[in-house]
Amino acid sequence: MFRLNGNNMHKLLKILNIISFVVLMSIILVLINDKNQQLFILQTDGINDNLDDYNEYMKPNKSDLDIPQHTAINSMLQRPRLLCMVTTTPDYHDTKAIAVNETWGKRCDTLLYVSSQTYEGLDVIKSNCSIENHDYLWCKNREGLVEAHRRYNGSYDWLFKADDDTYVVIENLIHLVSGHNPSEAIWFGQAFHEPIRNITFFTGGPGYIFSAEAVNRLVTSFETKRKYCDISEEKGPDDVYFAACLEGSGTVMGDDRDSLGEPRFFHFAPDAWLNPHDTVYHKKAWLKNYATYNYSAGMQCCSSSTVSFHYVTPDYMYVLEFLLYKLKVQGIN
Ligand SMILES: *[C@@H]1O[C@H](CO)[C@@H](O)[C@H](O)[C@H]1NC(C)=O
Ligand SMILES: *[C@@H]1O[C@H](CO)[C@@H](O)[C@H](O)[C@H]1NC(C)=O
Ligand SMILES: *[C@@H]1O[C@H](CO)[C@@H](O)[C@H](O)[C@H]1NC(C)=O
Ligand SMILES: *[C@@H]1O[C@H](CO)[C@@H](O)[C@H](O)[C@H]1NC(C)=O
Ligand SMILES: *[C@@H]1O[C@H](CO)[C@@H](O)[C@H](O)[C@H]1NC(C)=O
Ligand SMILES: *[C@@H]1O[C@H](CO)[C@@H](O)[C@H](O)[C@H]1NC(C)=O
Repeated sequence: MFRLNGNNMHKLLKILNIISFVVLMSIILVLINDKNQQLFILQTDGINDNLDDYNEYMKPNKSDLDIPQHTAINSMLQRPRLLCMVTTTPDYHDTKAIAVNETWGKRCDTLLYVSSQTYEGLDVIKSNCSIENHDYLWCKNREGLVEAHRRYNGSYDWLFKADDDTYVVIENLIHLVSGHNPSEAIWFGQAFHEPIRNITFFTGGPGYIFSAEAVNRLVTSFETKRKYCDISEEKGPDDVYFAACLEGSGTVMGDDRDSLGEPRFFHFAPDAWLNPHDTVYHKKAWLKNYATYNYSAGMQCCSSSTVSFHYVTPDYMYVLEFLLYKLKVQGIN
């Protein structure tokens, strides 16, 4: 699944060569014509001359999505096997679910969707919940998890649950869990504290990742009907209910923060956190009551090994894909 695509590497090197050539020519021309005015004219002329090439290059090409994968993670000797489970609904199959399939989802070893309907070309676990909406996420997530365990128990190390509007940097997710053994009962996500029930949980939006052993304990807890593991109930928030069910099962809630204390899972898209002149608490006042950590605004908001963001639209998924896997700042090694 994680092949370095030779064709694309070749194409990328070719493009880099052309860019270096153009930059070099521009510098030579600037040195020859030392007036700023002329520099502007020269560059514009250059683009006009090559407009056909430029248009050809800009033509949409589906294989542009076959972006080379990061080699460090791919060549990891014992790369943990990752099963990704994405909850979606029929209304979003051909927009959000497809965008996940074409961006981060393709880096999972197994990619499953949970929805009330199947869809050609996507591996969908068909849920049987009587109502399909946000209030019934407990039913959908629990059914999906039990079915994923039934089909794949023993052939994944970690199970990551996400929404169809979550964007995930799979390499960083693997990096986060690679210090742990999947036989350890542990899970990770963005810790929120629910003040009324007084329970700490991992908020569903940015996703949460269970070790194989944590999934075993959940499934066993459903079977033995442990306290707060009621599977006759359909309605309820999946995130709070999973946390309540796992409490007392000996499953550890891992800390997602890096060595600088910067978190890795985010309930909002990047634009909520990054402006240093406007705190996320100002924009999303309720966060203050739920956040377990103190979030900073600006570049310190988010770890350089960030795992995921929530509320990412399909358009935004392709933007992140481009910024993370294609765009390179020229001149930096
Ligand atoms: C799309 O990209 C592939 C691989 O890089 C290339 O072989 C193909 O000719 C391109 N198609 C168009 C229409 O540009
Ligand atoms: C989802 O991705 C897989 C693998 O890249 C591909 O084979 C499949 O056709 C895609 N599904 C849809 C509906 O595009
Ligand atoms: C939905 O119900 C059918 C029929 O009882 C069952 O075979 C299937 O496993 C159920 N699906 C899930 C996800 O529980
Ligand atoms: C599957 O899960 C159960 C617990 O739910 C566990 O005891 C068992 O060893 C697992 N089987 C395999 C083949 O991994
Ligand atoms: C909330 O839960 C924690 C441990 O889970 C406990 O120490 C604390 O006393 C509880 N607070 C209230 C107000 O019940
Ligand atoms: C949390 O942030 C506020 C303001 O941003 C700061 O005054 C406070 O000291 C911080 N608290 C902790 C525990 O870091």
